[in-house]
Amino acid sequence: MYAVTGASGQLGRLVIENLLGKVAPEKIVALARDPAKIADLKTRGITVRTFNYDSPSTLAPALEGVEHLLVISSSEVGRRTEQHRAVIEAAAVSGVTFLAYTSILHADTSPLGLAVEHLATEALLEKSGVPYALLRNGWYTENYTASAPIALQHGALLGSTGNGRISAASRADYAEAAAIVLTQANPAKAIYELAGDESFTLADFAQAITDISGKPVEYHDLPEAEYKAALISAGLPDWLAELLANSSARASGGALFDDSHTLSSLIEHPTTPMRSTLEKALQA
Ligand SMILES: NC(=O)c1ccc[n+]([C@@H]2O[C@H](COP(=O)([O-])OP(=O)(O)OC[C@H]3O[C@@H](n4cnc5c(N)ncnc54)[C@H](OP(=O)(O)O)[C@@H]3O)[C@@H](O)[C@H]2O)c1
Repeated sequence: MYAVTGASGQLGRLVIENLLGKVAPEKIVALARDPAKIADLKTRGITVRTFNYDSPSTLAPALEGVEHLLVISSSEVGRRTEQHRAVIEAAAVSGVTFLAYTSILHADTSPLGLAVEHLATEALLEKSGVPYALLRNGWYTENYTASAPIALQHGALLGSTGNGRISAASRADYAEAAAIVLTQANPAKAIYELAGDESFTLADFAQAITDISGKPVEYHDLPEAEYKAALISAGLPDWLAELLANSSARASGGALFDDSHTLSSLIEHPTTPMRSTLEKALQA
């Protein structure tokens, strides 16, 4: 059986849809801390189980019958290493024969603050003895398209990325790759640096908003502290503003760039162009 944690999340749902194209629903276990959120999957023949990273003793029983497990990294930044530790320990004592984990692009060298918990999780996996693959995901294009309406409102896109190039891909691309890796017949230990085929600067992204909408949007590059302050004044909590400003500033040195084309090789087609994802977002 193939199981996916965080199945109620945006990536998780897309992975489940991909799995449905590869294996029978009876072979899929969707794991979520709130199973009510994915009750629709049950009606499609998928097994739905409660799986809360914060309840370690419940995790191994929830993995009964699971051979290949996709661990989608938790969204609770700052608590993730301990949460992932609980999942890895449960996998190690249950029948899981292969675990794939969604890490961050170039986790071992990434200067992003976000990489710390991912790297710690990778180390836990290595120690666990469970055969594993690392899906080191680059940025979702949707991280940027989500803020396109606000940029349009103000005619300005803010960031601290300078001329740093970002090799983003759509969530759907990463989900497709995850389903492919999870359903391999004889998965081997592997590290996949996954990123988009094309890269863009935030100035390119602002230009794309302008081109698609017909309304001018300019990119304003700010020092990290000023960008953080702008995010706080827009209503973001301090921790999230810190995290976003840190990621944006570190990306100026190329931390979110990758030209290995590993993702398109794995999914056997080009990754979704930034402009396609943006067009979809602006139509929505
Ligand atoms: N590469 C990127 O650009 C990027 C961007 C953002 C995030 N990420 C990472 O990639 C992950 C997946 O992305 P996404 O877009 O699918 O995020 P998402 O929509 O926020 O989904 C996060 C998932 O994690 C689950 N979760 C959180 N805490 C949990 C817990 N204690 N126990 C069990 N499940 C828990 C959530 O459950 P609920 O539905 O109950 O909340 C949800 O299913 C994120 O969690 C984050 O680690 C990557």
